[in-house]
Amino acid sequence: MSDRRADFPALLAELKPECDALIAQYEQPRSALLPIIHLFQSREGYTSPEAMRAAAAMLDLTPAVVESTVSFYTLFFRRPVGKYVLQVCRGLSCSISGANDIMAYFREKLGIGHLQTTQDGLFSYEEVECLAACDKPACMQVNLEFVYSLTPAIVDEMIAAMRAGTYATAPMAQTDAPGKTWQVDQNDEVSTGGKSKGARDVSDPDNAGGLGDKAGVIMLDRIVDRDFAFRGRTSERVVLEEPAQIKELVNEDAHH
Ligand code: FES
Repeated sequence: MSDRRADFPALLAELKPECDALIAQYEQPRSALLPIIHLFQSREGYTSPEAMRAAAAMLDLTPAVVESTVSFYTLFFRRPVGKYVLQVCRGLSCSISGANDIMAYFREKLGIGHLQTTQDGLFSYEEVECLAACDKPACMQVNLEFVYSLTPAIVDEMIAAMRAGTYATAPMAQTDAPGKTWQVDQNDEVSTGGKSKGARDVSDPDNAGGLGDKAGVIMLDRIVDRDFAFRGRTSERVVLEEPAQIKELVNEDAHH
């Protein structure tokens, strides 16, 4: 595990009781996966490989199962993001209600494109599929909070408030530098040669763009790193030996 995440064990120890409480609410422990990931993301600002491994250990799932779940949702960020994550809907209802103009306005105003973060680490920008708020187009999510009926004036007001630190929605926590991430060329996102959208021209090997591209494989390597040793296999899953500290925390209750 890299030095920059040396603080993770302390965070895990702090959040473990809350995780236990979440697990206790469900008949099957694995049902607590999404709330647990939300909990870690609310503290780290993104869903780190360490958080995914910890969730896997607590729920007796493989890290790959956790990673595949996390990668399914635009609600989870698998790489460090800016203080404000701006996710604009590009679905049909929003598209016919001015979303294309709004997206172009955001790109111009921020100087970044889809899946990019400003150099100052303040904004990450993403164009996402239908956000299920089609009755209030054009819409977006800011740090997962909805904003409806977008106009350029609303965008101006929003960006100004974020820059001034007065925007109503709280900024994302920052435990890792977002500045070097999401530097992805999106000029030709349609023809991606089989790579996932947003993963072209990833220049930073530590920038995980998703499965199917080199950066995504690197992310998986970080999740399933040498801290894990296989201790057994069932027909359904590989059972993992947790890193010492995680194991200690997870098994705490069993010894009492
Ligand atoms: S198309 Fe934008 S919320 Fe459905």
